[in-house]
Amino acid sequence: MDTFVQWQFGRSLGSNLIEDLAERKMYFDGFFSPGPYTFWQYYFPDLARVLRTVGIYLIPRWVDTHFKAIEDWNLDKCDRAQQLLARHETLAEADQPVVFEQALKSMSEVDSKPGAYPQRMEVASDMFAHNSAAFETSGNTETYFFYEMCRNPIWQKRLREELLTLEPQLKFEQGKKYEIEDLPSSKVVDALPILHAVIVETMRLYPSVPGGQPRVVPRPCTLGSFENIPKGTIVQSYAYALHRTPEIFPDPHQWKPERWLDASPEQLTVMKKWFWPFSSGGRMCIGSNFAYYSMKFLAAGVYTNYTTTIHDHGDMELQDSYLAGPNGHRLEVKFHSNTHEDAIRY
Ligand code: HEM
Repeated sequence: MDTFVQWQFGRSLGSNLIEDLAERKMYFDGFFSPGPYTFWQYYFPDLARVLRTVGIYLIPRWVDTHFKAIEDWNLDKCDRAQQLLARHETLAEADQPVVFEQALKSMSEVDSKPGAYPQRMEVASDMFAHNSAAFETSGNTETYFFYEMCRNPIWQKRLREELLTLEPQLKFEQGKKYEIEDLPSSKVVDALPILHAVIVETMRLYPSVPGGQPRVVPRPCTLGSFENIPKGTIVQSYAYALHRTPEIFPDPHQWKPERWLDASPEQLTVMKKWFWPFSSGGRMCIGSNFAYYSMKFLAAGVYTNYTTTIHDHGDMELQDSYLAGPNGHRLEVKFHSNTHEDAIRY
């Protein structure tokens, strides 16, 4: 979340959910509170609204209070970023509100009065969609990634050997101020085969959006073996089910990164076709490239410098919901410095 919000609004307006407990609690309370009530919100918004006028709350009022807090948090960042751009100062690269600037220039105007730029709420809504979509999806994937890496030390070793070929390496030195030149190029990191295999295998087995992706049929059509589906029908598919198809992914319930490394070019083409964590088509994930970028750099940074083991965890079974993480909501990982004498040896 913090990496995405910094890219979105710039360093000076970034979030600090890692260290700021109050900000983290505010965000979590707002983000998770509507979860059990989305059925009413999505399918019967009018009913929920009308019943409210006679004092019946299908969605409790405290949900509104918590949710409004994160909407206000997002709107405040938008307003401050607009003012930052309206001052036309030269900003350091890390302070540039990259995503917001793009939205403001294409949907609104930079030079407006504070809080009064055209389409202010539309721009804020777009920004809210971005940061709320970035957070839980990448977070759950990374949780399962660390879970499986801890359970499979051989893959930590293989990954580390690959990471040590990077130039420059992602070695962490306490107190050092890192510049962009101190990092390997993102293209080179993205192309590392073992890093790619461990990340995509995590997304295959634990898709963070395993639930149905509904679409309305625009005209009568055929889907697979279903013929003449009438116009207006809602159809949906599930990454969870596609990713567990044994003919495409043998041993589908096993975390096996080697399936992505050992496949023939023909098998790989079919596997990629069935790999659906980001959906597809006009409404597919707009942040998939950023997601790969941030998850790969995180994984590369950690495993260049540390060996990890599991300290404790709750129920790791994937939740049965649209957005899903572990049922138990808890994974505690120990980091053992690779340069430290207590580093785990293989
Ligand atoms: C592992 C990480 C991620 C996964 C698995 C993921 C998955 C998805 C999926 C499945 C959808 C499609 C929903 C649908 O078809 O109804 C989606 C949409 C979206 N995602 Fe992601 N996402 C991830 C990260 C991100 C990030 C980092 C961003 C930040 C920009 C982002 C922004 C969005 C937005 C804005 C949409 C809505 C697109 C639209 O409706 O036009 N996602 N994501």
